[in-house]
Amino acid sequence: MVRIGIGQMSPVIGDTRSNLKILDRLLYEAERAEVNVLVLPELANSGYAFETGEEAAASAEVIPEGPFSSRLADWSSRGLVISGICETDGDDLYNSAAVFADGDYIVTYRKVHLFNREKLFFKPGDKEPPVIEYGGHRYGLMICWDWVFPEMARILALKGAQVILHPANLVLPYCHRAMVTRSIENGVFTVTANRTGTERGLKFYGESQVVSPRGEVLLKMSGDETAVRWVDVNPADADDKMLTERNHLLRDRRPAIYRRLVEE
Ligand code: ACM
Repeated sequence: MVRIGIGQMSPVIGDTRSNLKILDRLLYEAERAEVNVLVLPELANSGYAFETGEEAAASAEVIPEGPFSSRLADWSSRGLVISGICETDGDDLYNSAAVFADGDYIVTYRKVHLFNREKLFFKPGDKEPPVIEYGGHRYGLMICWDWVFPEMARILALKGAQVILHPANLVLPYCHRAMVTRSIENGVFTVTANRTGTERGLKFYGESQVVSPRGEVLLKMSGDETAVRWVDVNPADADDKMLTERNHLLRDRRPAIYRRLVEE
């Protein structure tokens, strides 16, 4: 079994020091709970509702050298941790998720589908979302608004992901239900770590959740708590893709019928 924890929080916009303090508290809670895989929200080091690119840049950090990343790397001698990070690379800013495990930096995924005003500040990622192996299991990554493109979860399932780790800053009320569908149609666990609080009129509604490959909500947090909650799962449950004795979720696909999906 793997103990999957979600660290739900309310980052303070532009206040990277306060966000490090919140992080320290959550990492401590996760350590005490003996969490094996910890998922933190999108843009956890910076907050979300930037007014200008300069403001976003002031909170951004280089991965993995930045202070938020360094804390995550330290914690990761205890388990795998993924967090959303406002990332700077040269002149560009990315809405990223970085993964650390065994005390080391593993990989960064740069959000491919930018939501609303994010397009004003961030450059979209241009790479397929990654799947990483850890402790004999396979974890796929996507960030928040990627949920509305079912292709993302599907690609991760086709690449063998058993669990999709999904840092989020959700402001629309649809994602939680949609992630139940993403879980069912791909036969995977999904872990959505949302933030809470209100920032410049934007309300983030928490309710972070873990969903099983058959769509059961195994963990649901409240709308406003800052805490680590967890659930024990067996990622190998996601290897059973038979929904009936004759229906395999991936092998029954008919790609020749869907060609239009990959036209530009
Ligand atoms: C979002 O992608 N943060 C809605």
